[in-house]
Amino acid sequence: MDDQLPRGGLIRKLWVAEADLYRDHLLRLDLQSRRSRFAGAVSDQFLSEYAELAFGIDAIIHGFFVDGMLRGAAELRPVGPTARREGEAAFSIEKQWQSHGVGSLLLERTLLAARNRGLKFLHLACLADNKRMQQLARKYDAELSFDFGTVVGEVAAPRPTPLSLIREIIADGHGFATAMFDMQSRLLVGSGAR
Ligand SMILES: CC(C)(COP(=O)(O)OP(=O)(O)OC[C@H]1O[C@@H](n2cnc3c(N)ncnc32)[C@H](O)[C@@H]1OP(=O)(O)O)[C@@H](O)C(=O)NCCC(=O)NCCS
Repeated sequence: MDDQLPRGGLIRKLWVAEADLYRDHLLRLDLQSRRSRFAGAVSDQFLSEYAELAFGIDAIIHGFFVDGMLRGAAELRPVGPTARREGEAAFSIEKQWQSHGVGSLLLERTLLAARNRGLKFLHLACLADNKRMQQLARKYDAELSFDFGTVVGEVAAPRPTPLSLIREIIADGHGFATAMFDMQSRLLVGSGAR
């Protein structure tokens, strides 16, 4: 799935211990992207506290990395009573990496994760003037039906299948292996080894 990413990029799930990477990514967002992501102007302190809390129970955050730096993220979390099977998704991509197809791939991963967790409705935190996010969501109208008045998408066939579970496991396995390789390389460089 990562084949279509900008060169050197990879998408994988973030680990709980990576809250500081998430905070630094959010702090790098330009003012307009911050506004679009958080539906208004937010302070650095707000973003730092938000990043700490974001890894709550059941949250799944996919990250887009380039050379070990987190440049984009997609959050998915269940909301409301379990029986309603509703989730909420939100995306943030640093300006330099916007309009390179990263948001599309993050949405694909988020949809797969939502489906595998039986979520039926996905709320997208999206301002009415955010045309790019709306265009992005429309690309997936076969999998999501959107009503932009209420910004709720219905996930098509919200049931895991053996194939959808395998797709997520394969994507996770690839992300984990690459993350380990990346970490090893940085440790080797740091220790001066060639
Ligand atoms: C909104 C956002 C997630 C979209 O991700 P992205 O990586 O920039 O989007 P993609 O490159 O995957 O493009 C998705 C679609 O948007 C449309 N699009 C891309 N760039 C666009 C632009 N500059 N203007 C208008 N539409 C654009 C295209 O239809 C595109 O699909 P296509 O390339 O197949 O035609 C990203 O720009 C972002 O993080 N913005 C700041 C925060 C934000 O708005 N978050 C959303 C609310 S939670």
